[in-house]
Order: sequence, then C-alpha cells, then structure tokens
Amino acid sequence: MTSSMRALGPFTTTAVGLGCMGLSIEGKPDQGTAIDVIHQALDAGCRHLDTAWSYYESGGPEQTNERLVRQALDSWKGPRQDVLVATKVGHYRNFTDGRPTWAVDGRPESLIRHAKESAQALGVDTIDLLYMHRPDPQVPYQESLEAMAELAKQGVARTLGVSNVDIERMDLARQVLGDDLVAVQNQFSPTFTSSRQELDHAAGLGLAFVCWSPLGGFRAPKDETRYDPFRQVAQERGVSYQRVVLAWELSQNSNVFVVPGAHRAATILDSLQAADMELSEEEMERLNRAATA
Ligand SMILES: NC(=O)c1ccc[n+]([C@@H]2O[C@H](COP(=O)([O-])OP(=O)(O)OC[C@H]3O[C@@H](n4cnc5c(N)ncnc54)[C@H](OP(=O)(O)O)[C@@H]3O)[C@@H](O)[C@H]2O)c1
Repeated sequence: MTSSMRALGPFTTTAVGLGCMGLSIEGKPDQGTAIDVIHQALDAGCRHLDTAWSYYESGGPEQTNERLVRQALDSWKGPRQDVLVATKVGHYRNFTDGRPTWAVDGRPESLIRHAKESAQALGVDTIDLLYMHRPDPQVPYQESLEAMAELAKQGVARTLGVSNVDIERMDLARQVLGDDLVAVQNQFSPTFTSSRQELDHAAGLGLAFVCWSPLGGFRAPKDETRYDPFRQVAQERGVSYQRVVLAWELSQNSNVFVVPGAHRAATILDSLQAADMELSEEEMERLNRAATA
C-alpha cells in the first residue's frame, strides 16, 4: 500500500520528494532548467525537497544547491509553507588525485557554523529538517550529535535527522537527540538492499526512513540485471521501471520516503506518480524475492 502523503516527524509531506543534488554538482543542468525542474515538481504536488550544504561542484562556490532551492521557492507561486526543505551538514567537496570527491567534517564547531550558513542560504530562521550528513571517523559520533542537539536547542533546526548510519549509531542518535530526531536517510535501492535492517530499525524507533539514490544513483556503474524484474513488472503495467522501483521501496513500510534525483522535469514528474501505484501481493513477492536473491 502506498499513499502520496506521509507523516515525517511533525510534518505531513509527500512520500516522493525531489533529491536536488544533481541540479548543482558535476553534470548539472543550466540554472534555468534546474529552477524549472523544481518548479514543475512543486506544481505537480511534490512537497519535500532534499538538499545539503555540500551540494556544489568541487572547487566551486559552496552551498549552490541550497541557494538554488531558495531561489526556486522564492519565485514559485504556490504555498511555500507546505514545502518541507531538508538539508544536511557534515560533508564538503574536495579533490582526491585530481578528481572531485566528498570529504567529511563532523567537528562540532563546523557543524554549528555550517548549519547557520545553511539557514542563511535557504533564507529561513529555522531549518525544517537538518541531517548530520555522515559520521566523521576523526570525531566521536556523540560529539557531533551533541552539536546537532545544540542546533535544535538554539532553534536553528526544528527537527533533526542522521544519515549514513548503522543501527548502533541510530540508537546513539536517539539517545542524544531524543524526540528531536525524526528521520534517518540511508542508501536503499534494488542495487543496495543491505540497509533493509536499518529501515526496519528506524520503523521500530518511530523514525522516517528516507532512501537516498533510490534508483541506484545517476553516475555510479550499477548492476543493471538487478532491475530486470522491475522492468518486467513495468512492461506488464505499461509504466517506467523507475516508477515500479520507487513504488516497491515505498511499499516496504509506511515510514519510507524516497528522494529520486532528476536533471529533467520529465523524470521527476514520472517518479512522483510512484506514490499512487499499488503493487499487488504477487508483484511484491516477486520483487522482494528478486531484490534479496
Ligand atoms: N545522504 C546522502 O549521503 C546522499 C547521498 C547521495 C544522494 N543523496 C540524495 O539522494 C538524491 C537522489 O540520488 P541520485 O540523484 O544520486 O540518484 P537516483 O535518484 O537514484 O537516480 C537519479 C537518476 O535517475 C534518473 N531518473 C529519476 N527518475 C526517473 C524516472 N522516473 N524515469 C527515468 N529515469 C529517472 C535521473 O534521470 P535524469 O538525470 O535524466 O533526470 C537520474 O539520472 C540526491 O539528489 C540527494 O538528495 C543523499
């Protein structure tokens, strides 16, 4: 069973959000197209935008995606207050062997500074949902979490999330952040199912589980054969296989959200329809079996 609107902490928002990363990093479309993608998603009913402090090109100006999201919302004619904007701190862009990469900085002072910069770039006093992007192996996770707790206390963030965490870190986050913690954002897709246990654990803690790169990502080479059973169901129904993948993820549990990326309006408009797609028991069994094989 899927439903287009779901409860995420104190928010009610769309089960399918727009992952905005690809609109501002390497391979991004031009600015006009990027704004149009966000506008068309919002016009079609999407009410969840996923961004991060670190969504900018390596070596380029920082926070370009947060500024893009703000510009898109400022120029949108719809109900801005209904849109949940989630951002993240703890990553920045770097180069490794001359290639653009992602680096972590989970020091408390960096998290606090970056979160305040995020609020500024987004043009808000209080961020709706602020994730700690990724644990920093150089910093005890508890210290990073305490900085996140401080950000909620100061009103910089209304609610908090953690991302790229195992069960142990999820439990620690719950302990340190209490009810301010509302979401976990981890990778989950037919090519990345090992986080299934984290999805279940998040449900047990009453937390939303937001799947990142729910279609396997737009750059990393992926095992395309994992998508064959989804292609088969898609062919039987006359829809895109991506829509079937997203519907399958949303059907895992009512705490699941997906934030597919898009460089074109057509792809997010198609993805948004996954929320209305009900897979039969037989289809779910078939896809679950294939995904865990
Ligand atoms: N928390 C984290 O550490 C983390 C890490 C990575 C990503 N994320 C979040 O996850 C979001 C999504 O991840 P992602 O962009 O890497 O990967 P993704 O959503 O798995 O894949 C995006 C790709 O799928 C294509 N696509 C999307 N919907 C489609 C449809 N209905 N039909 C056909 N093709 C479709 C897009 O095509 P086009 O390019 O042609 O539009 C794009 O190439 C990011 O934007 C970001 O917000 C979070």
